Amino acid sequence: MSDKIILGIESSCDETGVGIVRLSDTGEITLLADQVASSVDQHARFGGVVPEVASRAHLEAMVPTMERALDESGLSLSNVDAIAVTCGPGLAGALLVGVSAAKAYAAALDVPLYGVNHLAGHVAADTLQHGALPSECLALLVSGGHTQLLKVEDLAGKITEIGSTIDDAAGEAYDKVARIIGLPYPGGPPIDKAAKQGNPNAIKFPRGLTGPRDPKFDFSFSGLKTAVARWVEGQESDGKPISVDDVCASFQESVADVLTAKAVRAATELGIGTLVISGGVAANSRLSGLARERCAQAGIELRVPRPRLCTDNGAMIAALGAHLVAAGVRPSSLELPTDPGMPVDTVYV
Ligand code: KG4
Ligand code: ZN
Repeated sequence: MSDKIILGIESSCDETGVGIVRLSDTGEITLLADQVASSVDQHARFGGVVPEVASRAHLEAMVPTMERALDESGLSLSNVDAIAVTCGPGLAGALLVGVSAAKAYAAALDVPLYGVNHLAGHVAADTLQHGALPSECLALLVSGGHTQLLKVEDLAGKITEIGSTIDDAAGEAYDKVARIIGLPYPGGPPIDKAAKQGNPNAIKFPRGLTGPRDPKFDFSFSGLKTAVARWVEGQESDGKPISVDDVCASFQESVADVLTAKAVRAATELGIGTLVISGGVAANSRLSGLARERCAQAGIELRVPRPRLCTDNGAMIAALGAHLVAAGVRPSSLELPTDPGMPVDTVYV
C-alpha cells in the first residue's frame, strides 16, 4: 500500500472543520491541514447554539474552509484518496450540510466515503499528537454536548460506554453557570480564567452522583448548576457581595473533582492503564492539572491533546477515517444517512 491522503469533514455543531492527514504504508498518521470556521459569535447573544443559524453558517463556510485546508496542505482535491465525514451524533441540519458536501466530493472525485461517529473522532484526535493508542484505553469525553466515559479497545470498531451524564454535559454546565454570573458564552474559557484568581474552597458546591448508592461512572451536573444559581440568589437577597472569581473556582473544582475521580476509579477498577481526555472541556486547566495529579498517584498514563485538537475540528475526523482505511473496513454507501442520536458504539456506518 502506498501513502494515502484522507480528508475529514466536521459539521455536527457550530464548527465547520476540514482536516487532511497522510496515512503512510507503515500505518503512521500525519496531520497536513486543520482548518476550522466557527459560528460561535453568532450564537453568543442567545447563550447557546441556535441550530438554524449553525446550519446556515456551515453552508457558507464549507467551500472556503475546504479551500483553506487544501492550501495549508499544499495538495489539490485530485490528491485525495478517501473522505471521512461526521454523520452523527449532532444537530440534524448541521450534520446534513457536512454529509451532503462529503458525498458531493466523494462522488466527484470517485473516492470512498466513510461516515463516522463524532465522539470516536474526539478520541482519534489524540493519536495526531501522541501516536497510536495502546490496545485498550479509557476515554473521558467532555464537551458542550457530551460527557462520557468510554472503553476503547479498537478505534476502528470497538468502543463501549462505561458511563455518561444523566442530565447536562460538563461544557453545558460551564455555559449555564457563565450566564448566571454574567460571563460571556461559551462559558468555559472565561470561567477557567476567573477561577485562577479565586478560592476553590470558598463555597462548598455539591459533587453530583458521588453518594454510596449512586451509579459509579455516571455524571450529573444540573444539580451543581442549580446550586450555583441558588447561592447567587441567596447572596443577592441578603445584600452580600458576590466574588465571581470564588464562584468560578469553587464551581470548577466540583466539576474537575468529579470528572477526574470517576475516570481514575473506572480505569483502576477495569484495569486500564491509559486515560485519554478529549472534547472542549479537556482544554480546562484545572481538569487537566487535577487529572495529572490523580493519574500519577494511581499509576495511570494520561493523554490530553492540545486545546486545538480537543475542540471540534476536521482533523480528528480525518484521523478516524485514516484508522478505518488502515483497518480495511468497508466504505459507506453514497446513500449514507445522518443520525443525530448516533450511539457511541457505532464508530462508522
Ligand atoms: O468539543 P466542543 O468544542 O464542542 C462540542 O462538541 O460541544 O466543546 C465546547 C464546550 C463549551 O461548552 C465550552 O464552554 C467548553 O467546551 N470549553 C471549556 C473550556 N474551553 C471550552 N470548558 C472549560 N474550560 C475551558 N477552558
Ligand atoms: Zn465535539
